[in-house]
Amino acid sequence: MDPNNPPWWTSAVVYQVYPRSFQDSDGDGVGDLGGILQRLDHLSDLGVDVLWLSPVYPSPQADNGYDISDYQGIDPLFGTLDQLDELIAALHSRGMRLVMDLVVNHTSDEHPWFLESRASKTSGKRDWYWWRPPRGGFGSGHPGAEPTNWQSIFSGPAWELDAASGEYYLHLFAAKQPDLNWENPEVRQAVYAMMRWWLDRGVDGFRMDVINMISKDVAADGHLHDGPPIPGTGLGDGSASYICGPRIHEFLQEMHRDVFAGRDAALLTVGEMPGVTVEQAQLFTDPARGEVDMVFQFEHVGLDQGTSKWDVRPLRLVDLKASFGRWQAGLAEVGWNSLYWDNHDQPRAVSRFGDDSPRYRRDSATCLATLLHLHRGTPYVYQGEEIGMANYPFASVDDFRDVESINHFAAAMVAGQDPATVLAAMRRMSRDNARTPVQWDATEHAGFTSGTPWLPVNPDHDEWNAAAQRHDGSSVLAHYRRLIALRHENPVVALGAFAMLLPHHDHVYAFTRALGGQTLLVVCNVSSTPYALSDLLPQAVGAPLVLGNLPDPGQTLRPWEARVLHAS
Ligand code: GLC
Repeated sequence: MDPNNPPWWTSAVVYQVYPRSFQDSDGDGVGDLGGILQRLDHLSDLGVDVLWLSPVYPSPQADNGYDISDYQGIDPLFGTLDQLDELIAALHSRGMRLVMDLVVNHTSDEHPWFLESRASKTSGKRDWYWWRPPRGGFGSGHPGAEPTNWQSIFSGPAWELDAASGEYYLHLFAAKQPDLNWENPEVRQAVYAMMRWWLDRGVDGFRMDVINMISKDVAADGHLHDGPPIPGTGLGDGSASYICGPRIHEFLQEMHRDVFAGRDAALLTVGEMPGVTVEQAQLFTDPARGEVDMVFQFEHVGLDQGTSKWDVRPLRLVDLKASFGRWQAGLAEVGWNSLYWDNHDQPRAVSRFGDDSPRYRRDSATCLATLLHLHRGTPYVYQGEEIGMANYPFASVDDFRDVESINHFAAAMVAGQDPATVLAAMRRMSRDNARTPVQWDATEHAGFTSGTPWLPVNPDHDEWNAAAQRHDGSSVLAHYRRLIALRHENPVVALGAFAMLLPHHDHVYAFTRALGGQTLLVVCNVSSTPYALSDLLPQAVGAPLVLGNLPDPGQTLRPWEARVLHAS
């Protein structure tokens, strides 16, 4: 990264909108483009630079739009293409950019490509998806006849039988999300043409859904390999065959050449990459290689988990430091980090890593925000995070809407697990925690809809809402505003070199950022235990404050206190 000529997104902050839960404008209980257009002042006030819009394309909504049946349209549920054009223009006139979600590892099973592919074994598009006969020696439909033993990321086998042809198709996610076959050059060209069409329309880039899964490790004879068995499931872990597969860099470089080359100046590309390592991320984000600008990695959001996301463990702060520290170091010279706590797939950070009890909710939300936003990388704010939204108090399994949660519960029951234990884990980890409507005000449905919201509004919205925070300088919202402004104003925040301090301390997260003779010292107490600063970091005592989350900073680092200081 040349500090004299850094790309625009090094000092940018991205805001993610999950449209069905952001703002409803027509009273059907589902958020829409009209609603987003009504709320742009909120984004301008916050000061964010980019809006990443989760999918609004036509879709049967089996996975809330991550199952697309038409890449070049807008689902009537969300509005019209004219409104999307209006959104692009409205954002651009406010100096913001629009990044679309690109979901091309798979389509919906209702996409015309898949319908044509499924129509017959000799269809011209048969090879656009992963069709395979039953495993040798098994009749189709018999247990164990699936072509590989892979478990779907949404539970159960990753293969679905098509009774008409007797063959199976691959779906790494839900059965309604068949995987596209990127080995086929026609598939790639169709995807690139669609991407160019959106860029020509004025969008400013893409967030690429599970993009490191598009290359599968397939043998020359078309054979796919079984993975190691997953205890208690009868299935295997196929991830070695599809996470950063053999042709992934080739495909992304080709995409870059065919879609972005010549126009990249003002664009942003971020690849969502479960399981990506720092070493791989260096390659993906090295500008000289022409792949993507940055990746979403998953290491830090896996630190509170055992064998699966439903096996919840307490986060050890030292593990977080080791992980973030490695990513900061690994992408210091080449490449770039993205920074996030929350998105539509993660439970709310204040409940998960902070303390959402009334006493510490505001302080822990602002502490976590400070910690993250002072790292080197591009921060992503997920809707509602900026007002300290917390997990939802789910009472029963019927309260969940997410396909991942619903499938998990069903599979866990078949496996004989205790329903109360399974529900307790879902309450903490379900993606629906992130998907309850944004809390705009204290009225009945929080100002989200005049109808019945598709997922209930969190009952805490009477107190926790944007209206209550907008003019309160001590609010979570005001703190996010200050953090975002600081990144814009201070090149040290955007580009400064990162150095971890106190790597073994269980509660205090501290680091420096340095650029051109200026150094910032960041100290965050990620606990409710107070600490004397003079014991921990004498250099912090008396250092001028750049930004803090509690009034009247003194000698003691109070519970969940965060300070950004000028270091001498
Ligand atoms: C990504 C999305 C998630 C979706 C999955 C399948 O992880 O963020 O919401 O369910 O891909 O498209």
